Order: sequence, then C-alpha cells, then structure tokens
Amino acid sequence: MRNRKFSRYSSPLAVASVLALALSACSGGSSGGGGGSAGGGDAGSNVDGRGPITYVQGKDNSNVVQPMVDKWNSSHPNEKVTFKEQSDSADQQHDDLVQHFQAKDANYDVVDVDVVWTAEFAAKGWLQPLKDKMTIDTNGMLPATVKTATYGGTLYAAPQSSDGGLLYYRKDLVPTPPKTWDEMMGMCSTAKKNNMGCYAGQFQKYEGLTVNASEAINTWGGKVVDDSGKATVNSPESKAGLNKLVEAFKSGNIAPEAITYKEEDSRTAFQDGKLLFLRNWPYVYNIASKTDGSSKVADKFGVAPLPGKDGPGASSLGGHNAAVSVYSKNKATALDFLKFMTSAEQQKAFALQGSLAPVLSNLYSDSALTSKLPYLPTLLTSIQNAVPRPVSPFYPAVTKAIQDNSYSALKGEKSVDQALSDMQSAISAAK
Ligand code: GLC
Repeated sequence: MRNRKFSRYSSPLAVASVLALALSACSGGSSGGGGGSAGGGDAGSNVDGRGPITYVQGKDNSNVVQPMVDKWNSSHPNEKVTFKEQSDSADQQHDDLVQHFQAKDANYDVVDVDVVWTAEFAAKGWLQPLKDKMTIDTNGMLPATVKTATYGGTLYAAPQSSDGGLLYYRKDLVPTPPKTWDEMMGMCSTAKKNNMGCYAGQFQKYEGLTVNASEAINTWGGKVVDDSGKATVNSPESKAGLNKLVEAFKSGNIAPEAITYKEEDSRTAFQDGKLLFLRNWPYVYNIASKTDGSSKVADKFGVAPLPGKDGPGASSLGGHNAAVSVYSKNKATALDFLKFMTSAEQQKAFALQGSLAPVLSNLYSDSALTSKLPYLPTLLTSIQNAVPRPVSPFYPAVTKAIQDNSYSALKGEKSVDQALSDMQSAISAAK
C-alpha cells in the first residue's frame, strides 16, 4: 500500500496548490538558465556531475557523521564531502533547508530529510527522484523506512536511519519496567521517595511535541488523520490519550520543566539522575551508557517498550533520509555517497558508535550488534508498530496545528476538548 495518509487529494485547495507547486518546479526546469547560476537552469536533468559535495544534517549528537565523512574522503580525494552541521532542533533544520532550496543553493548537495518532510520537499520539486541512473537498492531495508522516503510512488531519498520511541528506566530503582501508562504513573511514588522527577518526554512546542502528543493519541486508539488523509483527531480516543499527558503535568508526575524539553534536555536530565523514566529515541543509549563520568546512570538503566493503554504503546515513526538536491551539480558523487551511507558497513558503524536505528532489516539479528546493543529487538518492534505522522505537502501547517493545540492543553490554557476541536479544524485547513 502506498503512503496515502493525509492524501494530497484531500481537498480541492490541496490539489490546486500541489499542481501549482509541480508546475513551478517544471517551469524552473525549462526556463534554461534564466534563474542565475546557483542551481543551473536545468535543475535535475544532469545527473553525471562529479566533484566535491556538501552533506547537510542536524547536530550530530552521536558523533558519527565526521568519522563517516573522513572515511569517505580518504578514498575519494577528488570527491570530498564537507559536513555542514545544523542546530539540534528539527524545526530549525527544516527552515534552514527550505531557505537554501528556495535560493536554489547548489552547495546543499546531499541533505538529511526528516521522514516528515519528504512529501513537502518532493512536492516542491526540490529532491532529485531516485530513479533511472539515480537508482538505489532498497531491498533489505525495513519497508516502513522506504515508505517514508517515497512520495506519489517515487523514491526521493535513501533511508539513512530509522527511529522508534523507547522507554528508558532506572532499573536500580524499578527492577521491572511498567507495561502500561497507568502502571508507570503508579510507580511515581518511587521517584518522589528518591527526590527525582518521574517521567519526561519532549514537550516544548516543536516537532518533538507532535511526536509525543501523537503517541498519546495513537496509544489510546485515536487517529490524527484517517487513511484518506481526512483529519479525525477530534475523538473520544484522542481525548483519553491527550488527557493522560495533561493529568500527568497537573499531578507533577511529568516534571514541570519538561514543558521546555527537547530530546537533548530530556536526555541530560535522565543521565544526570534526575528522572526515573524517559521517553526518547535510541541514540540516547550510547551516550547515557558512557563510563567516562559524563553519565550518572551508565550501568543503572534499562530499555523497554513505551508503556501503553493495556500493553505496549504506539511510537511515532521517526527517522531520517538522505536526499540529493535537484540543484546539486555533482549528483553522481552524491548518489555514491548515499549508497555508502546506507551500506551494511556504515549502518553497523552508526549502530555501534551512535546506537542509531539501522534501516537494514537483517542487522537487527546480527549477533555482532545484538551482543552489544541488547535493546535491538525492542527497537525493531517499536519501529514495526510505529505510526507515521500525517503525510502531507503542507506538513508545516499540520504539525503546527498539533503542536500549538497540544501545548495549550498541557499548559492548561485550553481544555482538551477545545484543543482537539481546534486541532482538527487547523489540520483540515492546512495549506
Ligand atoms: C527525531 C526523529 C524525527 C523527529 C524528531 C523530532 O530526530 O528521528 O523523525 O521528527 O526526532 O524532534
């Protein structure tokens, strides 16, 4: 089944806007050099160029990118890669890419695309379709990751790392991790006794809040959009889910400061010993396990599935794909670099050095990895059961609708009913 959630045909307005985007992408292609030198006038058509390229990605918290680039550079002296590192906030990374695409910047050759941006960037004509001479082999990749890189039946990026939410817990204080949310809330007395916060995820108003709010909604049986792309978030199930987060903020079971947390703030709180439970991505595992004194919990934490309503919860599907900009002049080099990043060797290195989630299915049962990364089977289940966020060329408006309204509910500025009703209207109006 294709990626049809939040279908681009969901409203006449959406159809018109997508057509306009597609037309402007085409006319950009045929205007033949009128648009300045940055991307060349025939963006997309010449895929044979070779030479130095730049790889653009958000902050490399796990320190895996420069080693990869160094390795590539040592064997490609005439096609060297320069790593341009962005900030650690998903929203800022997005806006930086948009600015550079709008300027037809030929220097953003290969860009890291969060799974939720594929539709928007592809619809705008900014990503080189990976077909014909630009084909990559996706056999062996987790189907869910390939789907996140595909739009309208065309592959636009190479799945580079996947992501599924995990529950990090203090096994020295809670020997058996909670299976359900209510069970976890019941364990918050242990946090109190130990003078620490109980639970945190990512609740600042940014993409991470969309992830966390959607997880609560999906876990209680709600759906942000249905299979045809229609907004369906205003339901009793979504209310039950969002309410769980609101109640936990009210009771203090979610530490009040978590309203300012992004991934890194919450990771730091956990590894400083200030939290009993943390929802975060797999990258935290390696950093929190360091025995150089930077983590106070190095040998004191375990990893479990996200706790849900009656059993495991539903993670939002995360992850990152590497795409070639249509404005790149060295697309043949860019393609080889994509193949290098997704090779088994490099995917193993990402997992071992950065505990990132591989995109290749067979690595989840590779004994060299499972012996060092015991949480891999839990992660695979998280990814396989994860729920994709809405797929839409107008995703920025969709995520804003989710962020703004869930944030107001968590802060107690709007009732959950009002927040969901406003969220539904704003998603339906997204353009
Ligand atoms: C992680 C996920 C990504 C998500 C982001 C939110 O990077 O891989 O999909 O959008 O976190 O902060």
